[in-house]
Amino acid sequence: MTGRIVRGRILTFRDDPRLAGARAWRLIDDGAVSVRDGLIEAVGEARDVLARAPQSAAIDDHSGKLVLPGLIDAHIHYPQTRVIGSYGAQLLDWLNKYTFVEEQKFADSAHSAAVARFFFDELFRQGTTTACVYCTVHPASVDAFFAEAERRGARMIAGKALMDRNAPPGLMDNAQSGYDETQALIARWRGRGRLDYAITPRFAVTSTEAQLEAAGALAAEHRDAYVQTHLDENFAEIALVKREFPWAKTYLDVYARYGLLGPRSIFGHCIHLEDSEVAALAESGSIAAFCPTSNLFLGSGLFDKQRLDKAGVRVALATDVGGGTSYSMLATAAEGYKVLQMGGQSWPATQAFYQMTLGNARALSLADRIGAIEPGFEADLVVLDSHAAPAMAHRMESHEGDLEEELFVLMTMGDDRAVRETYVAGEKVKEV
Ligand code: GUN
Ligand code: ZN
Repeated sequence: MTGRIVRGRILTFRDDPRLAGARAWRLIDDGAVSVRDGLIEAVGEARDVLARAPQSAAIDDHSGKLVLPGLIDAHIHYPQTRVIGSYGAQLLDWLNKYTFVEEQKFADSAHSAAVARFFFDELFRQGTTTACVYCTVHPASVDAFFAEAERRGARMIAGKALMDRNAPPGLMDNAQSGYDETQALIARWRGRGRLDYAITPRFAVTSTEAQLEAAGALAAEHRDAYVQTHLDENFAEIALVKREFPWAKTYLDVYARYGLLGPRSIFGHCIHLEDSEVAALAESGSIAAFCPTSNLFLGSGLFDKQRLDKAGVRVALATDVGGGTSYSMLATAAEGYKVLQMGGQSWPATQAFYQMTLGNARALSLADRIGAIEPGFEADLVVLDSHAAPAMAHRMESHEGDLEEELFVLMTMGDDRAVRETYVAGEKVKEV
């Protein structure tokens, strides 16, 4: 491989603009990134990078377009590509009526493989290069997912859902089989290439205490593996958790009791948190995944980012497809902005783009290798065109040269049309 040069307006974050202001990012208007063997070799002014490039290097000229680190989705369900946009239900009914029906099909390897192929095509079309992914209860769904991720060369975190109650028989394991299957999947996939594993008790409602104990044992044995689950999404869900675990003072108590909190634990939604839960999330370094399109679509509620920021809770941004309604992290940020507006909070575009890149990389403890355009980092990139649609180009006419405006147009009006190219480990992967 002779290397590649990606030329454009390089934008990368080094910190959270909420804390560091304009020092948080670096913009190189005529910049270039040189890539070799899947890694970023150099980044800087185009004239300097080009002068040092070998003659044989391919040059992808995206002059005028923004080049950012690939976008990161902290919570998404790959078996829900045919659930997205299902009408008229809130969480528990939505799960029973649509999701649990569709997920049963993933007992079949060929079905799982076909959906995994679609899923990666779609993520890359949207500029997402890393995601934290729920598979179904079936090990076959996990094998199919990781096999496709490996083929695509993408950095992915995923795991088998653990579910041993309150679900159809075709979607249940038991405490022992869920434990054994997870151990086998971890042995097969964890740390292979760019893949990592998330121990995935789906949520407290669908796990017995025995299963949560087994999940805790897995987390204790595999300290650097991730844990992902759902928390405080919906009032009926919370009431059900309190019925199933009468000893728990709060929903989070259930996960805490089994050792499931920590700096690699990602809790989807976190909308209806009690103060003690906020404190426990902060103290344990756990991550709250903000899933705005899902929270609106399922009528779940409004995420309070300011409260979590103030308490020092680590926050990530996520689509939560198929409760979420868009694969696009740009569209997700737009809805995030509106949700925060409803709570009297603001979200400058620079903060939102930090969140989609370095912020989510930090939340996933991956900020030493993805989420920024720095030498030695993995070469996952997205090229964004703020003039991709007529209405965007028209809107930009009065604001050329203003980065904050441009990013806000991209997140408010942008989607896959604005994604000109996606690179995974230095290779072009967007199927137009
Ligand atoms: N809680 C448990 N499972 C799910 C799911 O698949 N989607 C959402 N949004 N919430 C959940
Ligand atoms: Zn979810």
